[in-house]
Amino acid sequence: MKLNLKSALPAVAAIMIAGTAQAADKPEVTDELLAVGETAYARECAACHGADGNGKGLGAHYLNPRPRDFTLGVYKLRSTANGEVPTDDDLFATITNGIPNSMMPAFKSLSEKERWALIAVIRRFGGIEEEEATPISVPPQPKRTEATVTKGKAVYDRLQCATCHGVEGYGDGPSSLTLVNDAKERIFAPDITTGRYKGGSSPEDLYTRIATGLDGSPMPSYAAEAKPDEIWNLVHFLQSLTE
Ligand code: HEC
Ligand code: HEC
Repeated sequence: MKLNLKSALPAVAAIMIAGTAQAADKPEVTDELLAVGETAYARECAACHGADGNGKGLGAHYLNPRPRDFTLGVYKLRSTANGEVPTDDDLFATITNGIPNSMMPAFKSLSEKERWALIAVIRRFGGIEEEEATPISVPPQPKRTEATVTKGKAVYDRLQCATCHGVEGYGDGPSSLTLVNDAKERIFAPDITTGRYKGGSSPEDLYTRIATGLDGSPMPSYAAEAKPDEIWNLVHFLQSLTE
């Protein structure tokens, strides 16, 4: 069959756009945009995250984990290094997709303008509107083989992931029962064999979570302890646990 490039191209472009936050379309932060964000925030977010962004909305008490306290400016799901602020694209992805395994809903139904406006509002709550950070570099994924999975298991043992996540990843490690987050609330190490993760389940997502950690929670960053190929080995081992 002869490939009709002309008709295939728009479809390819549409897939590429759907897969990434559209940084190119990001509107400039103006008073008008902030007003749009404040209205959407009061309507969609305040019930959980609190009118002032402090995480103490009416529904917050019943949720575990609790809704994020935006005044701290600390985020779990980032493409940036441990301790840094997320990028606008990270926040756009969280608001668009929600957070699986938590009560944070997906807000695909909001217009893109509203989603960008909400980012400006929640950055302002944390005083991080001027702060920027660059995503870490994720090297290309090596081919997964039995050998890379076996190496990944060895790295999992060496870095003692099992103390929290358990030998087989079910979240039943000995430390899991004693973990608390930065707000001193109880948190368990999750079962990492389900294939459903807060920050997405693509290999690159898993690489990024292991390299950057989930700030504010006990899940550390392993960028200093594991070399890039070892992090890829870990990703392959995690994938093997889900099968
Ligand atoms: C039903 C309650 C609920 C509503 C409504 C809600 N959230 Fe959340 N949100 C949560 C919870 C719970 C978390 C924490 C999840 C976790 O830590 O795993 C969260 C976390 C977040 C995070 C933090 C992500 C990170 O990387 O740490 C952002 C950003 C966020 N919400 C934005 C919003 C915005 C914007 C709205 C409104 C459009 C909204 N949320 C509405 C419950 C809610
Ligand atoms: C001190 C305990 C602890 C150790 C050690 C630990 N984790 Fe975690 N991990 C956690 C906790 C707690 C969470 C859940 C964080 C949250 O949801 O806020 C988590 C979450 C995760 C997730 C889910 C990310 C997502 O997007 O949902 C993966 C994958 C993961 N850890 C892998 C690892 C690997 C691999 C290691 C070892 C290199 C490791 N963890 C070591 C406590 C730990």
